[in-house]
Amino acid sequence: MTMSTFAVLVLLVITFTYSVAADNKPEQIHIAYTGILSERIVNYVTPSPDLQPETVVAYGSSPDKLTRKETGTSFKFGTHEGHYFMIHNVKNERTLRTSFLEKSVKGDKARTLQFSSSVIVFLECHAIFYLGLILRHVIKLTGLELNKRYYYQVGVPDNGTSDVMSFFTKDGNPVFAIYGDMGYVNAVSLDRLKKEADDGGFDAVIHAGDLAYDMYEGDGTIGNEFMNSIQPIATKVPYMALPGNHEQMYNFTHFVHRFSNMELGVGQTSGSGTSLWWSMDIGLIHFVAFDSEVYHYYRDKANQNRERTPWIVSLAHKAWFMEKTDFSVFGPLLHKYGVDLHLCGHAHNYQRLYPTYNDSVEYPTDNHVYVNPKFKTVIVAGSAGSPEKLSNWTHAPERMSAKYIYDYGYGHLQAMNQTHLYWSWENTHENVRPVMQDYLWIVQEHHGPRPSLFDEEQYQGLKELKDVKSESVEV
Ligand SMILES: *[C@@H]1O[C@H](CO)[C@@H](O)[C@H](O)[C@H]1NC(C)=O
Ligand SMILES: *[C@@H]1O[C@H](CO)[C@@H](O)[C@H](O)[C@H]1NC(C)=O
Ligand SMILES: *[C@@H]1O[C@H](CO)[C@@H](O)[C@H](O)[C@H]1NC(C)=O
Ligand SMILES: *[C@@H]1O[C@H](CO)[C@@H](O)[C@H](O)[C@H]1NC(C)=O
Ligand SMILES: *[C@@H]1O[C@H](CO)[C@@H](O)[C@H](O)[C@H]1NC(C)=O
Repeated sequence: MTMSTFAVLVLLVITFTYSVAADNKPEQIHIAYTGILSERIVNYVTPSPDLQPETVVAYGSSPDKLTRKETGTSFKFGTHEGHYFMIHNVKNERTLRTSFLEKSVKGDKARTLQFSSSVIVFLECHAIFYLGLILRHVIKLTGLELNKRYYYQVGVPDNGTSDVMSFFTKDGNPVFAIYGDMGYVNAVSLDRLKKEADDGGFDAVIHAGDLAYDMYEGDGTIGNEFMNSIQPIATKVPYMALPGNHEQMYNFTHFVHRFSNMELGVGQTSGSGTSLWWSMDIGLIHFVAFDSEVYHYYRDKANQNRERTPWIVSLAHKAWFMEKTDFSVFGPLLHKYGVDLHLCGHAHNYQRLYPTYNDSVEYPTDNHVYVNPKFKTVIVAGSAGSPEKLSNWTHAPERMSAKYIYDYGYGHLQAMNQTHLYWSWENTHENVRPVMQDYLWIVQEHHGPRPSLFDEEQYQGLKELKDVKSESVEV
């Protein structure tokens, strides 16, 4: 063999090896909290339909010394075919979006049934849908030290590896970037979020429903593109998500699979066993995320550790005044358990309410400082940017509204100490340098459950009724 033939062969081997690896480079990488401070849980996808690489994270305290290795589990899937009943509860039949019906039914039967005061629509559909993903990997990293930067790389050398990335395990009270309703198209806040993640402007993200618009579109390609678009943020800080109405399709399948690190992380730790509703303690805050699309009753242990986590922040895609949702169970629960703040999206605008419960409003002397409020505060931050743009619909009643902003942006939340919780909201309108548009201090010296304002017995009855309504069955 001549020297040149040898060189060509070597080159061929290198090219071949390289292209296999390049084709199967891990993507859609994102990390999450598990609810245990010394842990992070990594989720990524390898796109090749032929290769089945091992699930591995190599990590360490410097980028060239990834001396520790953790393995995990992978799930293979592509096309799903099934026969479903979807139960969609609408308060008023006229408000049912026909597009939802069209997309869901795909030529099959739909029938409606009067139930109590609501109309329930049974959508019986035979659906074939594509998850647009081939192999999803989940790995839990445990025993991490606090206040330390970890460098990590996912994948195996023979079958494609990611770049070396890093995250910081901050102790103390993190700053959370919070928003709902960010899509792949018209993600106005994305550049600002990426820059802030680079600069360490926040320590974690909470995306309160409506992601990608929609993850199942284009046989899942929109979901893939979206997950890749948030990767520069979600590989640096935990990206925590909860579902909104845009995730409902096919029984939340895309959300559940793409955020399986939430199910195996906070879902497992909190005991909910799912990514659709969960809770976690981070710093001085106990977060409770629930799904405002279905009546799910989740008896959370919010008040067990009120000494350690005095603040309770609830998260859902919607607030009580929004359409096609029913807070007749959630409302009294959040009030009774002394939730301080409820954060949501859905309306594509920004709204801050006064402390309210049911019909009662408390007007503070300073619009930006709520001192020992008797009721919880609701904040809507649903304008991170989506193809649906901004909207003026879904206003809270005028007399309850402390601030309303029609612009793109997202908020920051931080518990300063036992008594002071700080929130701010900055706009991220294209070509405009973000400027703080609103802020709020909640000062609370008496954390804890509130006197029950509702009849337990009546409430139990209501809860049972909702539980019946929320059942869905696969046949
Ligand atoms: C790489 O992929 C091949 C083909 O799926 C598989 O046989 C092999 O075990 C993988 N190697 C590693 C280290 O994961
Ligand atoms: C929405 O309301 C804001 C003021 O509250 C107003 O400035 C804006 O023009 C409105 N936009 C539309 C599209 O109606
Ligand atoms: C709590 O934080 C606030 C705001 O930073 C500060 O004014 C207050 O003194 C702090 N309270 C305690 C007890 O440290
Ligand atoms: C809420 O307000 C309505 C109307 O004022 C009242 O009838 C109802 O009893 C209140 N509900 C609760 C749980 O306080
Ligand atoms: C919907 O998904 C949940 C898990 O997230 C599962 O328990 C349930 O059986 C599914 N329902 C249908 C109709 O597929």
